[in-house]
Amino acid sequence: MKTILITGASTGIGRAAALLFQEAGWNVAATMRDPSHESVLNTLPNVLLHALDVTDLASIQAAVAATMARFGGIDVLLNNAGYGLFGPLEAVTPDQLERQYRTNVFGPVQTMQAVLPQMRAQGSGVIINVSSIGGRVTFPFNSLYHGTKFALEGISESLAIELAPHGVHVKIVEPGGVKTDFAGRSLDVMQLPGLSAYDASLQGIMAVFADPARRAGYSESIDIARVIFTAATDGSHTLRYLAGQDAVAMAASRAGVTDEAHVAQSVERFGLRI
Ligand SMILES: NC(=O)c1ccc[n+]([C@@H]2O[C@H](COP(=O)([O-])OP(=O)(O)OC[C@H]3O[C@@H](n4cnc5c(N)ncnc54)[C@H](OP(=O)(O)O)[C@@H]3O)[C@@H](O)[C@H]2O)c1
Repeated sequence: MKTILITGASTGIGRAAALLFQEAGWNVAATMRDPSHESVLNTLPNVLLHALDVTDLASIQAAVAATMARFGGIDVLLNNAGYGLFGPLEAVTPDQLERQYRTNVFGPVQTMQAVLPQMRAQGSGVIINVSSIGGRVTFPFNSLYHGTKFALEGISESLAIELAPHGVHVKIVEPGGVKTDFAGRSLDVMQLPGLSAYDASLQGIMAVFADPARRAGYSESIDIARVIFTAATDGSHTLRYLAGQDAVAMAASRAGVTDEAHVAQSVERFGLRI
């Protein structure tokens, strides 16, 4: 029986993946910052519920050790935990900047580091890093979130080469919009008292993102979980998996224009102005 360790399994994509892999007969280490509120995953067979905060190295190591002790190995790591930071870059506080990179970049790196000795020893394994369409296409006022996802993509691509001789596959899943807590509870906002220079532009972008027509095209968490399942089981060397029709369309559209056209079109599209 195969084993997957998932970070951020409390809600959204991570939770959908935990349920999907469990239903498919896998051992699932469903990790989350606070497992005390969980009332479903802890009732299912072959599920280990364990605390894991990706910003806390000791908790990463403890969760990996507990998974090894319970299931005897880890075949797939799903680095899913993450959150968004929205607003003008010049408003970011040092704490916000650090927490965004610690969670979205350093956390996945240290989790990979924790499982790799065992994957190398067994000569197989799949590491799936949940990036975003925002790991290849940018929107204004998401600069630091994009920075983390571009970083995760670069790290993953290099690591895929580095680990190929060891039989470990590294994969990147890039969801478009997904109906999760991401745009609510999981969104941190950068605001600076007295900074009003971006207000008109912020109104423009918020109108685009709040448009019900746009949100209607978002995927459900289970749709992304199915793409993750494919990435975990297809045995291929495929590196990037776009997840969601909107992600496919955005990637194609971005690939068809120059950097300069992307900037100019985005200013227009999001109604950016002073
Ligand atoms: N929703 C979208 O539109 C979308 C699009 C593209 C990519 N993504 C990516 O998909 C991933 C999952 O997000 P989601 O959409 O499923 O949102 P979500 O429902 O808000 O889930 C985010 C998960 O990350 C966890 N998390 C946050 N900080 C953590 C930390 N320090 N340690 C451990 N877990 C932590 C949260 O745990 P708590 O319950 O403890 O807060 C939660 O389980 C993220 O990496 C996100 O960037 C989402």
